[in-house]
Amino acid sequence: MGRGDGGRSQVAPTGSSGTTSFDAAAVRRDFPNLDREVHGRPLIYLDSAATSQKPTAVIDAVTDMYRCHTSNVHRGVHALAEEATDRFEGARTKVARFVGADPRAVVFTKNATEAFNLLAHSWARRRLGPGDVLCYTQMEHHANLVPWQMAAADAGFELAAVPVTDGGRLDLDAFAEIVSGGRVKLLAVTAMSNVVGTINPVAEMADAVRRANPEAVVVVDGAQSVPHMPTDMADLGADFLCFSGHKMCGPSGVGVLAGRLDLLESMPPFLGGGEMILDVQLYGATYNEVPYRFEAGTPMIAEAVGLGAAVDYLSALGMDAVRAHEVALLEQVLPALGEMRGVTVHGPADPKARGAAVSFAIEGLHPHDIGTILDREGVAVRAGHHCAKPLVRSLGSAATTRASFYLYNTTDEIEPLCDAIRAAQAFFEV
Ligand SMILES: Cc1ncc(COP(=O)(O)O)c(C=O)c1O
Repeated sequence: MGRGDGGRSQVAPTGSSGTTSFDAAAVRRDFPNLDREVHGRPLIYLDSAATSQKPTAVIDAVTDMYRCHTSNVHRGVHALAEEATDRFEGARTKVARFVGADPRAVVFTKNATEAFNLLAHSWARRRLGPGDVLCYTQMEHHANLVPWQMAAADAGFELAAVPVTDGGRLDLDAFAEIVSGGRVKLLAVTAMSNVVGTINPVAEMADAVRRANPEAVVVVDGAQSVPHMPTDMADLGADFLCFSGHKMCGPSGVGVLAGRLDLLESMPPFLGGGEMILDVQLYGATYNEVPYRFEAGTPMIAEAVGLGAAVDYLSALGMDAVRAHEVALLEQVLPALGEMRGVTVHGPADPKARGAAVSFAIEGLHPHDIGTILDREGVAVRAGHHCAKPLVRSLGSAATTRASFYLYNTTDEIEPLCDAIRAAQAFFEV
């Protein structure tokens, strides 16, 4: 499906080399699934916050692993085992470089959710107790809420949630109040909301929590930010960073916990078995070094290699350029939706203050009805609570409709989205 030349961003973003010009129409050609039709219409995929489409380079990398290098990793002496291990460990190095982490402190998990559960089990449950406070926010995905709640129920520490203001931002006065007592030992915060798109001032929050308690540990949810903007753990002030491969052009089934090596080395394993040991006796075991201590059993080999290919793909485009393209899209999407009759867009109005997950409400229509009609028009959006019920409730509803954009979306897709919304309004006569 060609979409004219609307793919070229109105801005001329520069990549990390300072020279990259972003051509979304060309990028689209790298994603074979974007060629397909849905209900007889060209697909307009606006659900990348849930999962992204995959470029041919990633699909090929995964296929190549199975076709040519199938073997288990780390434990073989034969050629295939060495090839698989080299590629798997090579992917770890690529991922580490992508977010400014030490490769020895990059743990492959199943997804971001598992990374949070690992931290809740191996850090929070052991290091926090009565009198300690874990601070998270009302803006979090359930993955960055429920594991902490489970740990708190076991270990007896307190939970404090930073509320969200009407503009879809964190209430930083309330945050200052929470940290002022010096009892916050862990701050868990998302860098970018999956519902309202807000980019949070993570570095300032990390500074504030450490000023009040120099021992405090900062866990950043990068599930939405890492795919969409340049990331450096040190710039974020993150001790731990959790994200998923499938939202950043990579395969499903692989996620990342990147952390501070000293902290990871001080933590016990999360799951037992396989290569996470140095030695096992009948009644005890000694644990392997980091990161293998946290990778029990056969890992997601082809998926990790696919994630490495996704990192290569994004790095070649330049994450500055990806971000600039999305800001250029937002500069058109936000006013286009905001000016529509009966439509309320949630979250910050300033494209530079937010990511490309755009939730909205339409007067008189339920998000599931909107999603169904949009699907018939070929427009894939998501309707629901987006696994962020406390945030969505604060918007005065049980659900929103979310159109989420990524590097392969073009300005040509904005008008069809608006047309589909008008079709839904006409169908339901609102
Ligand atoms: C902000 C945020 N955090 C965490 C997650 C959990 O990601 P996964 O389901 O890949 O574990 C998501 C997924 O939507 C997300 O948007």
